[in-house]
Amino acid sequence: MSGGDKLDFEIRPNPQPVSAAERAALMANPGFGRIFTDHMVTIRYADGKGWYDARVEARAPIPMDPASAVLHYAQEIFEGLKAYHAADGGVTMFRPDANARRFNASAERMSMAPLPEQVFLDTLHQIIEIDREWVPTSDDSSLYLRPFMFASEVFLGVRPAQEYLYVLIASPVGSYFSGGIKPVALWVSQEYTRAAPGGTGAAKCGGNYAASLAAQAEAIEHGCDQVIFLDAVQRKYVDELGGMNVFFVYDDGTLATPPLSGTILPGITRESVITLARAAGQTVEERPVSIEEWRADAESGRLREVFACGTAAVITPIGTVRTPDGEFVMGDAGPGEVTMSLRQRLVDIQRGRATDPYGWVHRVL
Ligand code: PLP
Ligand code: COI
Repeated sequence: MSGGDKLDFEIRPNPQPVSAAERAALMANPGFGRIFTDHMVTIRYADGKGWYDARVEARAPIPMDPASAVLHYAQEIFEGLKAYHAADGGVTMFRPDANARRFNASAERMSMAPLPEQVFLDTLHQIIEIDREWVPTSDDSSLYLRPFMFASEVFLGVRPAQEYLYVLIASPVGSYFSGGIKPVALWVSQEYTRAAPGGTGAAKCGGNYAASLAAQAEAIEHGCDQVIFLDAVQRKYVDELGGMNVFFVYDDGTLATPPLSGTILPGITRESVITLARAAGQTVEERPVSIEEWRADAESGRLREVFACGTAAVITPIGTVRTPDGEFVMGDAGPGEVTMSLRQRLVDIQRGRATDPYGWVHRVL
């Protein structure tokens, strides 16, 4: 079947899967994005034909013609979500429907073919079923799922490609930042911005990450863990980190986070945090926060905590902010109470330890 909302997957199990002993050794200390499961899912698209050739097969290099459009004009998008080992031995995912929708929003921005949401979800089920032994069972680990799609058409003209390849790979991961939950230091990018109005900031396309690397290198040169970007027009308002959204927690208990103005990624964790905080009676304002305001409020003590959030990073406290004019510190620079409590509530739902009134947890096995 092709082109519709339901595809039949041809399943070709990896004839040489990693042995159980080797897998256990790899998964003992997975880090982030370093080790991969035995399989991948691939689906092809061609204009006029729709989606076809859906396969679950051994993870392997993808042959590419040197004139493949993605190698020249970067029509590429991706997603990131996690599967968790459930207390009853099953496997769940967190809000995969939101990733399916965002994937298509990114596809639209990059003039790529949309993938039916149900097909996106089916691919996630397929890889988890075949690679279920790769879902880590420990509390601080999960199976990171990385769906992506790129222009595979062999053509050098500048126009939307007419052929795409969707691929899903999976990687058992521990925490994104080494050393557990400790506050990270941010460098405020001076020279570089991440996204301008009308640009691709709200899309999850590879090019955004390529563009962030020079700024991230600057952060590391200045002894910081991550970079934070200011808006491209006034160089005044906080946008987000290279791969995480940001929240501010004030002494009166209110929270603030930059609005979805088109220059930041609409994070699924961000939206979940807003929902959880509001459900607990906390006020959350989606409003611009300037870097001067951030510094002044940190120095006066009105700003108590700041944290970053995203699928990979979960909720990570921010301790220090560094600029060429000096640095400032949040509260007592330790992980704050509000941050850690929100993190706990989120993780408890993700791991099935707390009830899920929002229908966020999606059962796979
Ligand atoms: N911002 C950027 C630039 C990201 O890459 C990510 C990670 O996907 C996020 C924010 C957080 O998004 P989510 O919570 O959906 O993972
Ligand atoms: C994620 O959180 O899933 C991301 O894609 C962020 C990336 C920096 C790993």
